[in-house]
Amino acid sequence: MTLITVTTRSGPPQETAADTRVVGLFEGETLADERLQRLVELGEAKAGLKKVAVTHEDAPGGGQRRVLIAGLGKRDELDAERARVAAAAAAGRAKELGAVSLSWAAPDGDGVAAGLVEGTLLKLYSFDRFKSANDNGNGGIESLEVTGGDEAEVEQARIAAGAANAARDLQNLPPNYATPTFLAERAAEIADQHEALEVELLDRDAIVAHGMGAFAAVAQGTVTEPRLIVLRYRPAGATGPHLGFVGKAVTFDTGGISIKPSPKMQEMKYDMSGGAAVIEATEAIARLGLPVNLTAVVPATENMPSGTAVKPGDIVTAMNGKTIEVNNTDAEGRLVLADGLAYAIGQGAERLVDLATLTGAVLFALGHTYAGLWSNDDAWFEQVRDASDASGEIGWRMPLHPEYLELTKGAVADLQNSAEARVAQSNYAAEFLRQFVDDRPWVHVDIAGTAWGMARNYVGKGASGFGTRMLIELARRAAS
Ligand code: BES
Ligand code: MN
Ligand code: ZN
Repeated sequence: MTLITVTTRSGPPQETAADTRVVGLFEGETLADERLQRLVELGEAKAGLKKVAVTHEDAPGGGQRRVLIAGLGKRDELDAERARVAAAAAAGRAKELGAVSLSWAAPDGDGVAAGLVEGTLLKLYSFDRFKSANDNGNGGIESLEVTGGDEAEVEQARIAAGAANAARDLQNLPPNYATPTFLAERAAEIADQHEALEVELLDRDAIVAHGMGAFAAVAQGTVTEPRLIVLRYRPAGATGPHLGFVGKAVTFDTGGISIKPSPKMQEMKYDMSGGAAVIEATEAIARLGLPVNLTAVVPATENMPSGTAVKPGDIVTAMNGKTIEVNNTDAEGRLVLADGLAYAIGQGAERLVDLATLTGAVLFALGHTYAGLWSNDDAWFEQVRDASDASGEIGWRMPLHPEYLELTKGAVADLQNSAEARVAQSNYAAEFLRQFVDDRPWVHVDIAGTAWGMARNYVGKGASGFGTRMLIELARRAAS
């Protein structure tokens, strides 16, 4: 990830020092600049969202400057999401043309300046550290200036998009690099940088000693050391409820003894996406100094088959005392989250959100568009959904039901981690998790469809960092 400088400026957009300035064009409106308006009349510049026309003008200091005319659609429909989309289209074209510095003239609108920043930074993300010959040497866009935008709003957007891109780096790192101890070191590094942030790392022995039998069972099949990663954010003057964010970080999911088929198994390096989002969101929340107490818990382990691996039929005891028959070792996410949630509750968390690439079935239900959301509390759900809508990391509420709960009952233990009936698997998983939240307001976010493979123009098909910006937005709202 290359860092892009973001600044705000007041004054006329055309007074910019950038090599490329971007002018937004609304449907049915004219541009003040006559030469630019001429391109609109010729039909070369179009107002449709994602349309970008390229032209040049005299720069104030002599020479020529590039001007992009970016379609913004209808003025009354412009919101943060459409600003992200328009900005990504412009940034993509600017990059192709060899631009180094960009300047956007931000139109008015709630969250629009922030959306322009996010769309630009998310679009320009790339992961090329393993390419011997990468194009980092030949420049790329280095700066973004926003004229007419609120400085604080732009700065928040820069931090949030930066955090999402940092989460994407963690996602993209291969599983021999992004191990549980690597994620733990990243969390420790973050804690070092912020006064109000403290890290606690539990190794295999400590995980067992804490009675986290469900998490330990998943970790017992791998020689790679697991970690329970805990970040405690306790700023002065915190208000509102104590938040608990729990993120699944299975750094590679083979399925264990219930092994997965080979095709696309390499994608299971992304099975730590929930944990990545939680860690980097926590960093951003601390950087922004949001006055809210937060405990972030990330159970991190590989799920491997081996002579020491948990077997189908084994019964384990979770931290909250519930016993679980492990019928399918590939349903490991709910096992690590069960103990992660119980731990967050033990730390005093009063409002919970868990983020996990939990079930393949959520991809069938919602595709790469919405995350699945489940909740035991309507008021808390509304708050999470509002934050999710505002961030563009959208989710759709899915049902809990006593009949799904019934499926989670074990034959000989309290619970079973998977049922014989292969129905409603995402809802089943949510009902399973609900039994570890001690009736506290909780939202479960299944990101198996959205952590990668999205079709949104500002993220592309690869790792999306999904959930990072939503969690930051949630903390921002909870603190105010
Ligand atoms: N990490 C997977 C879920 C997953 C699958 C995420 C595909 C993204 C893409 C999870 O651990 C898993 O294997 N779930 C099983 C549960 C089943 C065995 C009850 C699933 O969804 O098939
Ligand atoms: Mn699995
Ligand atoms: Zn998994």
